[in-house]
Amino acid sequence: MIKEVESLMHKYIAGVDPFALKLYENISCGKRLRAKLILKIASDSKEAVKLAAVVEMIHAASLLHDDVIDEAVTRRGTPSINATHDSKTAVMLGDILYSKAFYELSYFSSFIVQKISDAVTKLSVGELLDVTYSNSLQLDEDKYFDMIYKKTAVLIEATASSAALLAGKNIHAYGVYGKNLGLAFQIIDDVLDITSDSQKLGKPALADFKEGKTTLPYIYLYKSLNESDKEILLKLYKKELDNDEKKWIKSKMQESGAILKSIELARKLGYEALEAIEEDKSLDLEKVIKEMIEREF
Ligand code: IPE
Ligand code: MG
Ligand code: MG
Ligand code: MG
Repeated sequence: MIKEVESLMHKYIAGVDPFALKLYENISCGKRLRAKLILKIASDSKEAVKLAAVVEMIHAASLLHDDVIDEAVTRRGTPSINATHDSKTAVMLGDILYSKAFYELSYFSSFIVQKISDAVTKLSVGELLDVTYSNSLQLDEDKYFDMIYKKTAVLIEATASSAALLAGKNIHAYGVYGKNLGLAFQIIDDVLDITSDSQKLGKPALADFKEGKTTLPYIYLYKSLNESDKEILLKLYKKELDNDEKKWIKSKMQESGAILKSIELARKLGYEALEAIEEDKSLDLEKVIKEMIEREF
């Protein structure tokens, strides 16, 4: 089924422009989490493949823009489009994917059209918040959760509730599932930035703090440090880190329990996601959550 989603995306972009298609072919596939969710929730719906293609095009567009915003030169193990070409090309390809996705989205019912397009507005606000917060150390947990809800969870929430509508299932329950899955997903992304390495991740590791992003593990870490360690951490903020500084951050993250605390929260959100769709145990949506939390990239 994922193959059908891939070929539909290919067809959509081929219908737009041959150069756009050539560029698009340089992007390697990700985990296709959103497509898999739709296919699992709405497996009997004829429209599931189409919705999955639309949502994956939107996701791909958001990452093209995100890599420009974050000045990230790798994505999914290969150079990002802003690295192989330039930022202009990445922005324009993102625009093409967004607008083609919206065109195809317009054939769906108004609930789905509104849910998904509103999610993209919120995702863009989330990216704006992420950038704004990265101007200085942002230690407010509520602000962090509001930002990750918008930049990541809202599209997964809209995806799950839209798939539920296609399948005639409980829209609200699947929305809650998607929201909690999305929040957990971003927390794990933020943990992996610290605990994993660039090769496994397929994108730069230990990059968030250098970019000015005070993600949840950093918020927990800062609050647990004594005054002199707080000062050391502040000095490393937004700095290109040498090996000793990287080691210091990684070991403090483990020692202080900041990593564990973050993972535990992601696990708790994972359980809450599953609780929301308890009636629908037949699906292996539990596996989706488990794999997402225990992933290494
Ligand atoms: C990107 O957030 C969120 C979007 C999907 C727009 P990040 O900047 O944390 O994502 P990565 O780490 O580059 O994948
Ligand atoms: Mg990024
Ligand atoms: Mg970003
Ligand atoms: Mg990240």
